[in-house]
Amino acid sequence: MRTKSLTIIAEHHQYFKNDGDDVIQGLKQTPKNLPPKYFYDDRGSELFEQICELPEYYPTRTEAWILSQFADEIAQITDKCELIELGSGSSTKTLLLLDAYQNKSSLCRYVPVDVSGGILKASVLKLQKKYPGLSVEGLVGTYEQALAMLASTASQSSTLGGTPSRMIFFLGSSMGNFTPQDSEYFLQQVSQTLNPGDYFLLGIDLQKPKDILEAAYNDNQGVTAAFNLNMLSHLNWRFQGNFDLDSFTHQAIYNQADAQIEMYLHCQKSHWVSLEALDLKVFLEAGESILTEISRKFDLENIQKELEVQGMKTIKTWTDSKEWFGLILCQA
Ligand code: AVI
Repeated sequence: MRTKSLTIIAEHHQYFKNDGDDVIQGLKQTPKNLPPKYFYDDRGSELFEQICELPEYYPTRTEAWILSQFADEIAQITDKCELIELGSGSSTKTLLLLDAYQNKSSLCRYVPVDVSGGILKASVLKLQKKYPGLSVEGLVGTYEQALAMLASTASQSSTLGGTPSRMIFFLGSSMGNFTPQDSEYFLQQVSQTLNPGDYFLLGIDLQKPKDILEAAYNDNQGVTAAFNLNMLSHLNWRFQGNFDLDSFTHQAIYNQADAQIEMYLHCQKSHWVSLEALDLKVFLEAGESILTEISRKFDLENIQKELEVQGMKTIKTWTDSKEWFGLILCQA
């Protein structure tokens, strides 16, 4: 289906359609795991918004600060282009970039990509009001689907004969939630979506002392714990499950060797859980933990090498004064 400002590649429910397989696979493994995409039902998305405001959760604030300082410079470097944002399209961070490009009159088109059609539609309408002259075209689908579709279409400005043409951006260190293999595949896909001279802007959370990292994922108000446990409520309604939330506690530890936060649901008592819609019964042992998320913390030098392997050369990097978060602008 296509409306002028929203192209639906796949609806949100299709994103979860073949699902179940990933839950079955994850719960059959040792140690057990559950895919982080199940964090994000409506309640989960709300809780994530709250996490971003927490005093302990520095990434959102720090990245926004970097953008507030350097968005103009980014717009200056790339000059006229269309912006493609992978992930949430209505945040303050996006506005910082859009404002910088609008001020320079160098924005041709803004294409936000998200799996949630509802959120995207609201955000497209809001942006169309705020920037009446700007073409805003949302793409509803997964990153993979959107990148595949964008790879086959020339950017608007290059069709018009202008260069450079396109900057894809991926903020919030969301790449940290991918395994190293998935990151490699993702960067390959991004690279294939860029023409020579196009840009990629990546926001990444950097390595830092364990206590700061663990505090960010074990906040005092218990919002991250509620976010983690909410995955079980989501699975209960989606698959007619009977997870008892009181039988689990939230755990987040920093695995220094792999430079990643690992979030677990720690099981307090031995019991059976069933997910009727999946025809699945699983036995959980007291003391066993289910891995729900990894959040990798990056080394600024190494990630630039990984980008370069995929044909994207760093033009400039920016960090905050403590070097807690980094932004990398690279060019295909
Ligand atoms: C979305 N993502 C980048 C967050 C992170 O920090 O890895 C998800 C999150 N999980 C717990 N707190 C935040």
